[in-house]
Amino acid sequence: MIAIGCDHGGYALKQEVMRHLDELGLAYKDFGTYSEESCDYPVYAKGVCGKVLADAGNATPGDEPASFGILVCGTGIGMSMTANHIPGIRAALCGCEFQARATRQHNNANVLCLGERVTGQGVALDIAELFLNTAFEGGRHLRRINQIEG
Ligand code: RB5
Repeated sequence: MIAIGCDHGGYALKQEVMRHLDELGLAYKDFGTYSEESCDYPVYAKGVCGKVLADAGNATPGDEPASFGILVCGTGIGMSMTANHIPGIRAALCGCEFQARATRQHNNANVLCLGERVTGQGVALDIAELFLNTAFEGGRHLRRINQIEG
């Protein structure tokens, strides 16, 4: 399951990400916003992260996420700031495929943040696909992510 959300600055890219998820046959739920009308990104970040945490239940930081979140705003920064304020969320703002792969392998990130005004559509779709298809490596990385909120 994938929970996806955006503000007005990320609306167009979110539409493309959802189209790509459809092509990949991956299930998702759209938590809004549903137009390019100006809105406040924390509302949508909190909605998506709430779903990721609800699906996680009693999972520990080393468990593969039951659900992933994808958040898109103009820069990706407001979304990532908001998401990383929420205990249990490890949100990664990614601008290239290397970051997408590494943050799953090393940080067990459960939320991907994208910046529509920063990252081209083709790269953004590759980032999303890689993020969703890369497993956490555990080991020394588990020790480190356990210290984030420890
Ligand atoms: C909206 O103009 C913009 O501020 C927002 O999408 C995001 O980039 C905030 O971090």
